[in-house]
Amino acid sequence: MQVDLRVLRYDPERDSKPYWAEYLVESGPMERVLDLLHRVKWEQDGTLTFRRSCAHGVCGSDAMLINGRNRLACKIRVDQLGRRISVAPLPGLPVVKDLVVDMEDFFAKYRSVRPYLVNEAPLPARERLQSPQARARYDDTTKCILCAACTTSCPSFWAQKSYVGPAAIVNAHRFVFDSRDEAAQERLEILADKDGVWRCRTVFNCTDACPRGINITQAILEVSAAIVERRI
Ligand code: SF4
Ligand code: F3S
Ligand code: FES
Repeated sequence: MQVDLRVLRYDPERDSKPYWAEYLVESGPMERVLDLLHRVKWEQDGTLTFRRSCAHGVCGSDAMLINGRNRLACKIRVDQLGRRISVAPLPGLPVVKDLVVDMEDFFAKYRSVRPYLVNEAPLPARERLQSPQARARYDDTTKCILCAACTTSCPSFWAQKSYVGPAAIVNAHRFVFDSRDEAAQERLEILADKDGVWRCRTVFNCTDACPRGINITQAILEVSAAIVERRI
């Protein structure tokens, strides 16, 4: 079948503003949007620019706005979208070129919550043990691939770019509720800030957008409850 593929393109060195480019692309129904973008790049216009790496929903590098929703180009199939497909960069982040956005601010917010295990106790001989129940407490939030589909679909983030955003809160949650970690208090203090969890208005766009099916809004509510519980 032939797909009408529209791509919002922008090269800051050449274009005064973004514009829609249209391509007719041959595709099978089970192919993914990433296949179409490759076909355009390899067969029609080598200047088309986008990020991708694994092509299997693991690396998180090809999130984009596809038919009005943030999704991974390597996961969404043509038969899920129809013959007219539009692709634009993730909303709310500066465009570097075409579908590539500047992720610096996104990753700075991620780093701000100390997204790694903090434990100053001497290392045990083999490993820091944890029961299956304690491991299950934060299982959902271990699945994040840092694609930014959640943060860039959040109206609170669009309105206030200083909001730390759902992705950073998800990654804080992953360690706040880890029984081996010792920095929960510090992370919760960071997230109790005016640009932390209280900017969430439980819109649920983030949860709808997450390609890993993480219940993001629930994680945000659990972090908020922990802040209240500790009276931070
Ligand atoms: Fe992507 Fe989901 Fe992680 Fe957000 S929580 S960055 S949508 S994987
Ligand atoms: Fe935004 Fe998700 Fe909260 S969309 S307002 S972070 S529930
Ligand atoms: Fe890695 Fe899509 S290319 S998640």
